[in-house]
Amino acid sequence: MKRLVFLGPPGAGKGTQANKLSERYGLLQISTGDILREAVQQATPLGVQAQRYISSGTLVPDEIVIGLIGERLKKTSDQSNAGYILDGFPRTVPQAEALDKMLQNERVSLDKVLSFSLGETELIRRLSGRRSCPSCHRIYHTEFNPPRKAGVCDRCQVALVMREDDKPETVRERFKVYHRQTEPLLDYYRKKGLLIEVNAGGSMEEVMKRVLQTIGDLPVVSKV
Ligand code: AP5
Repeated sequence: MKRLVFLGPPGAGKGTQANKLSERYGLLQISTGDILREAVQQATPLGVQAQRYISSGTLVPDEIVIGLIGERLKKTSDQSNAGYILDGFPRTVPQAEALDKMLQNERVSLDKVLSFSLGETELIRRLSGRRSCPSCHRIYHTEFNPPRKAGVCDRCQVALVMREDDKPETVRERFKVYHRQTEPLLDYYRKKGLLIEVNAGGSMEEVMKRVLQTIGDLPVVSKV
């Protein structure tokens, strides 16, 4: 069972790679961003709390996200034998410390932490063309990964949406927040010997090859 963390700036392709690994190898994708956006969409108490942070490009408070992940991790062994990818969590040192405690309590540990890196110009190109399915969370790009029918999810036939936090001014804030609050995690995991830096440039297939080289072979469950 693999336990992986995907780190990286907004738009680096963490979600895209996690989507593909999930579809092909049955790894469970646990995306805090998706969980929070779904809560906002459904106007749950969590969503009402999270909305203002997401739309301003800042981080939702640690205690909220840590509680959310704690609940999800308890259910993971029932949902996938292949393991899971934490996509977008942890994002601060206190979140990473809380994750360590949760894993210690279960007597398990992380296998690897992949840090996806890419220059800002390319990150902005990726974010400005991103479209996603509000139902299944599959990620598209108007130029690099268009759906078969423009604006419609291949899988759900639902209209694709542009994320509210992909507006240029919010993207700038998200980059700042990444450098200030999430980059320190690279050292945190480097010191633990878990960090692997992945060049996120090039096509999705090229990045996928690099990812697979770092995490090792996995049994295929679906040839998507
Ligand atoms: P979240 O949803 O996690 O956003 P993010 O980390 O900013 O990352 P993105 O989803 O923007 O980018 P990605 O790296 O997944 O790129 P993608 O694969 O989509 O978080 C959103 C907000 O939620 C946060 O700002 C915060 O408020 C809150 N939040 C979430 N987690 C939290 C936490 N732990 N603590 C506190 N708050 C939290 O790719 C981008 C585009 O590029 C797509 O269109 C894709 O098709 C395209 N693309 C991908 N790879 C390639 C490639 N190789 N070539 C060409 N195009 C590509």
